[in-house]
Amino acid sequence: MDYLKFIPLISFVYACIHILFSSLSSKNTKCPKLPPGPPCYPIIGNILQLGTFKLHQALTKLSKKYGPIMTVRIGTITTVVISSPTIAKAALHKHDQDLANRLIPDSVQALSHDKASLIFMPVSAKWKIYRKICATTIFSSQKLDSTQSLRREKLRELLAYLQECCKKGEAIDIGETAFTTVLNSISNTLFSTDMASYTSGSSQKFRNVISLMLAEATKPNIADYYTVLRCFDPQGARRRMENYYQTLFTLFESIIEERIQQKDSTEGDVLDSFLNITREENSEITRHDVLHLFLDLFVAGIDTTSATIEWTMAELLHNPDKLMKTRKELQQVLGKNGEPKDSDITKLPYLQAVVKETLRLHPSAPILVHKSVAEVDMCGFRVPNDAQVLINVWSMGHDSRIWTDPNLFLPERFLENEEDFRGEDLGFIPFGAGRRMCPGIPLAYRVVHTMLATLLYHFDWKLADGQKPEAMDMEEKFGITLHKVKPLMAIPVKE
Ligand code: HEM
Repeated sequence: MDYLKFIPLISFVYACIHILFSSLSSKNTKCPKLPPGPPCYPIIGNILQLGTFKLHQALTKLSKKYGPIMTVRIGTITTVVISSPTIAKAALHKHDQDLANRLIPDSVQALSHDKASLIFMPVSAKWKIYRKICATTIFSSQKLDSTQSLRREKLRELLAYLQECCKKGEAIDIGETAFTTVLNSISNTLFSTDMASYTSGSSQKFRNVISLMLAEATKPNIADYYTVLRCFDPQGARRRMENYYQTLFTLFESIIEERIQQKDSTEGDVLDSFLNITREENSEITRHDVLHLFLDLFVAGIDTTSATIEWTMAELLHNPDKLMKTRKELQQVLGKNGEPKDSDITKLPYLQAVVKETLRLHPSAPILVHKSVAEVDMCGFRVPNDAQVLINVWSMGHDSRIWTDPNLFLPERFLENEEDFRGEDLGFIPFGAGRRMCPGIPLAYRVVHTMLATLLYHFDWKLADGQKPEAMDMEEKFGITLHKVKPLMAIPVKE
C-alpha cells in the first residue's frame, strides 16, 4: 500500500494535532460517548486490522466483538459502523436527515464531478430536482413501459449470441455477457443507442473504464486522510479519474451533439426529455448537468446490475436443484414458445425469490456509505458531526440472529415470508433505505429478472471444463460493487 510511505513524514505532526483536538473535543461535548471499537494506532487508525480486500467481512468480524454499532478509524476518519436492523432503522429512518450525506473521496472530485453528481451531492434542493427528474423521466412505470421494446430487442440479441455459443459448445463469461446486455439495455433506455457488442471487445473496454473508476474511488488514498495533501494529488488518483471521466463525457457529448443535429427527432426517449428540460426557461438542469447525470447512472447502474446477474447464475449452477426448479417455473409460466417480458415477472415467484436470496448473500453494494452532518445521539451513543457512517448490508444478510442457515442458498425462505427489498425491512436492504435509497430499483428489477429469464428459459447450463458444482469457487472480491473473484464460465446447452 503506497500511502504507507508517507506516514513517517507526517506522523509527528499528526500525533500532536490529534492529542490536542481529542482533548479539546472531549471537553466540549455533553453527549454520550462514541460507540465502542477496537484500539487504534495514531495516523493509520484501524487500517491494518481492516485490510482493503474484504472490508465487509473484516467489519463483520469486528462487530461480533464490539457490537452492532461500533467505531473504527480509517486513517484519521472517525467511522461508525452499523450492523443490525434496529440500529440501521434508527440511522436510515429516524436520523435519516442528519446521516444522508456522503464523504467524498478526493479522486471523485476530478472535473468537479462531486458538485454535479446525484450520488455524491449533499441532500439539497438540486439533489431533490435530480431525483425528481430521474423518477419521472426514467424510472416511472409509464416511462419504463414505453422503453420496454428497446430492452426486449437487446434480449433478442443476447439470445442470438447464446444460440451461437450453444451450437459451438462454447463457454461464455457470464459476468461479461451480463455487462454487455445491461450496458446496452441501459444505454438504449437512456438514449436509444448501443454502446457495445458481444464480439468486438468494446464492452470489455467500457467495463475496464467503469471498473477502474470504481476501484479508484475505493482505493486507499492518503489525500483522503490528510486533506492538506489534496492539492498535490500525491498518488495521482484524481488525475487518473479525470481521464476516466473524460472518456465517458466525450462519448456522451458526441451522442448529445448528434441528437441536437437531428432536429426533427421524435424518438421521445430519456435524452429527448432531458434536452427538452434544459431548453426550458429558468431550466433546473443544464447540458453540463446531463453529462454528469448520465455518468452517475452508468456507474451506479451497470456494474451492480450485471454483478447481481452473475451471482444469481453462479448460485444456481452451484445448486443444481434450484436451477432445475427455476427453469421448471419458467417453462410452466411461459409455455412452449414464450419470450420473457417485463409483465411476466410477477408470475414468476420462484425466480423473484432466487434473486432476493442472491441479493441477501451477495449484495452488489455490500456497504452503504453515508456521512453525518450533525452530531446524533443514536441508541445511547454519540455519532459525531462529519463522521463516516457505514451500514454493513452484507453483515446483516449473513446474521444467524436474522436468518436461519444464513450461509445456505435457500430461495424458499422468501416464498414463506414476503420480505421485500424496498427499504422497509431493515434486515434486507440491498438497495439501501431512506432518502438515499437507490432510485434505479424499478429498472434494475426489470432488467435483472428478464435477463435471467432469457438465460434460463431457453437453455440448460453446465460449467466450463467439466467443473463440478460443488467444486465452484464462490469467493467474493470487495469493492463498491461486490464481484466474484473467479469469473463464472458456463456453456449454454439445449435439451
Ligand atoms: C441490482 C442492481 C442495483 C443495486 C443492488 C443497487 C444498489 C444501490 C445502493 C445500495 C445504493 C446506495 C443507497 C444508500 O446510500 O443508502 C444505490 C444508489 C444509487 N443507485 Fe442503485 N442499485 C442497482 C441498480 C441501479 C440502477 C439500474 C441505477 C440507474 C440506472 C441505479 C442508480 C443509482 C443511483 C443514481 C444511486 C445514488 C442515489 C443517491 O445518492 O441519491 N442503481 N444503489
